[in-house]
Amino acid sequence: MSHLTPREEELALRVIPFPSDANPYGDIFGGWIMSHVDVAGAVPAHRRARGRVATVAVNAFTFKQPVAIGDVVSFYARVVKEGRTSVVVDVEVYAERGHDAPEKVKVTEATLTYVAVNPDGTKRELPA
Ligand SMILES: CC(C)(COP(=O)(O)OP(=O)(O)OC[C@H]1O[C@@H](n2cnc3c(N)ncnc32)[C@H](O)[C@@H]1OP(=O)(O)O)[C@@H](O)C(=O)NCCC(=O)NCCS
Repeated sequence: MSHLTPREEELALRVIPFPSDANPYGDIFGGWIMSHVDVAGAVPAHRRARGRVATVAVNAFTFKQPVAIGDVVSFYARVVKEGRTSVVVDVEVYAERGHDAPEKVKVTEATLTYVAVNPDGTKRELPA
């Protein structure tokens, strides 16, 4: 196991993809990873905004390694920048595979921006 993985308190989501999440070549569909990254990134954004947030932008997204059916996929997310109404969140994704000689590899990294919104969907300032 790598000691370079993010801190456990940044763990926002952990999930095992099914065969139905794979593309025709047997790798996990990129859209499955993207949707889970969006959900994971919203966790610290929601916590910081103390309420509802909306994804306004995906600033960067890199698929570094393929994900396989049955991998244990962990999504780590943290706020790296704050604006007036928005927060920028880094999400790092690791896949754990193998039983006898388990390894944990970084498969994806992404940066997204979330905006704090009111119940009617309009933006609001981040609370102090
Ligand atoms: C999020 C939303 C309420 C923002 O409203 P808006 O009036 O367009 O807001 P602004 O253009 O003033 O931007 C608000 C904040 O987002 C930031 N922002 C806007 N567009 C951005 C972009 N492309 N990249 C990075 N940040 C961006 C602004 O810099 C600003 O941050 P700050 O207040 O911290 O300085 C509105 O765009 C919206 O409802 N979008 C749809 C959200 C949604 O449905 N997401 C789900 C995916 S379908």
